[in-house]
Amino acid sequence: MCGIVGYVGPKSTVDVLLGGLKRLEYRGYDSAGVSVINTLGTLETRKKAGKLSILVDDIYKTPLGEAHIGIGHTRWATHGAPTDGNAHPHLGGNTQKLSLIHNGIIENFSELKSELLEAGVSFASETDTEVAAHLIAREYDKTNDLIESFRTVVRRLHGAFTILVMHEDEPGVVLAARRNAPLVIGLGEGENFLGSDVAAFVEHTKRAISVGQDEIVILRKDAVEIENFAGHKIEREEFLIDWDASAASKGGWSSFMAKEIADQPQSVADTLMSRVSSDGTVHLEELAPLTSLLPKIDRIIMVACGTAAYAAEVGKYAIESWARIPVSVELSHEFRYRDPILTPNTLVVAVSQSGETMDTLMATRYAKEAGATVLSICNTQGATLAREADAVLYTHAGPEVAVASTKAFTSQIVSMYLLALHIAGIRNTRSLNELQDTGKNLLKLPAQIADVLSNTQGIRSLAKAYKDAETVLFLGRNVGFPIALEGALKLKELAYIHSEGFAAGELKHGPIALIEAGQPVIVIVPSPNDPDSLHAKVISNIEEIRSRGAKVIAIAEEGDQRVAQHAEEVFFIPKVQQMLAPVLSVIPLQIFAMELSSAKGLDVDQPRNLAKSVTVE
Ligand code: G6P
Repeated sequence: MCGIVGYVGPKSTVDVLLGGLKRLEYRGYDSAGVSVINTLGTLETRKKAGKLSILVDDIYKTPLGEAHIGIGHTRWATHGAPTDGNAHPHLGGNTQKLSLIHNGIIENFSELKSELLEAGVSFASETDTEVAAHLIAREYDKTNDLIESFRTVVRRLHGAFTILVMHEDEPGVVLAARRNAPLVIGLGEGENFLGSDVAAFVEHTKRAISVGQDEIVILRKDAVEIENFAGHKIEREEFLIDWDASAASKGGWSSFMAKEIADQPQSVADTLMSRVSSDGTVHLEELAPLTSLLPKIDRIIMVACGTAAYAAEVGKYAIESWARIPVSVELSHEFRYRDPILTPNTLVVAVSQSGETMDTLMATRYAKEAGATVLSICNTQGATLAREADAVLYTHAGPEVAVASTKAFTSQIVSMYLLALHIAGIRNTRSLNELQDTGKNLLKLPAQIADVLSNTQGIRSLAKAYKDAETVLFLGRNVGFPIALEGALKLKELAYIHSEGFAAGELKHGPIALIEAGQPVIVIVPSPNDPDSLHAKVISNIEEIRSRGAKVIAIAEEGDQRVAQHAEEVFFIPKVQQMLAPVLSVIPLQIFAMELSSAKGLDVDQPRNLAKSVTVE
């Protein structure tokens, strides 16, 4: 799970590559490197351990030559520590004229490496990637045909890879191959691009092609060919990227995460756009491929990882309540290894911001092979998940760069409300009035999010006050439970603080033993008007922990007078239909984690050990 970028064209190649890597740095940021073939025809490579800025400074001090072709890489280490030597690109052959970058894992690299070692090849790194560079260089020395050599070698590789290759003796072409790792082509005028996702080149072109599984791309400045690993030509349709390039830059915010949190009134409005009419009716034309299936599905299984799985948990409450279909949420990596029961009437909903999370892709493929239909809820156009699913509901949250997901999460939840209302409408499980009222309530969410965002000083100060906390607990009930889990995940990811989310009712069955004097507990309090009296039950839960010394911080509904008597601090969110509250109540938790991370002097956008899109299993 690294970021890759390739370019052939008249622009300053180093600038295009470094700009692309900047936008892909979320995919991995422990080292970075570029290779170009300069206008004198020489291959030049520069690579550095550490953040991309270290490479940029190095190139600034000692520039690379003018070039019109090049490849670049930002790494999240799998094989070999993050050092200058293990950074990509890797050079192949005795002449070191071939340069290669790779995203993924070459699973049979040890056996290939033994073969090369026996043949006397020496290695400069501990990576799995370097074997591919030497194998292709060796083939090329034999055949003098770079494309054929590339095909021969990629057919021998097992595992997951997007590979880009250039050779000094073929200075007009970048070759790429993809299996189980993402690759998108950007089409320009007299220039063409390759990237792990469209963010890599969206500032240069909006025209893109998504490359399929086991396909090779031959990229020149004025031509792009796609073929399969056997060399047969393939036609793929292009699509237009609807992301605004400026949306992928910080635009004056202190971090991408700060910007993305602030984007949420707009990103949620974009998720709703043209899908809910002013009378509250939901239209989801993109679900047309599921028209005959939706009336007869008897079960929905949601597969997702990380934050997306918590969004799916909220979706479960909405779909079961409104559309009356049993829903289970499964972590993608657990799902396919437990022999799940799937029938032609099972709808599998795969939720993923990137659409490239390998665990979720593998779960999806498994479900399809077992005869289920797959709907993906995805944020990234042209992503593998979107291409492989039977239907796609794009979240339209715009590019999300910070590793910790914020606006993609709220847009995923809203997409699931839309899905629930759509299915409920088809199956007549709720009256039209009820569905339209909820549709109208959805339309109010952007303004309500803006309202929450306009009053965050208190939660920011609180975060600073808790910067030395060792453990923070989160409690929620009903739809507040997944939000408690998400609040805890955000804090782990960003502030490296031990945090756990619990269902408030579960507390007395074990977790209450953790409570000791001064323990901060953040509680998502349901509306006092909820019909199931959950409010009163959560207040009792609060009292149970307060009497044992916990410091309670409550997120509650505006006008909830009672809660203030039971908590040290209360942060209010606007009054909203209970099912929709997660979209608002998560925002103070996002801000809490971000501010606490900043207060500790940590990197908010790129927390240690993580990558935004995990494209390995
Ligand atoms: C990684 C990220 C998480 C993200 C998860 C799922 O673990 O660090 O922030 O929620 O992947 O990503 P996806 O792109 O599938 O939503």
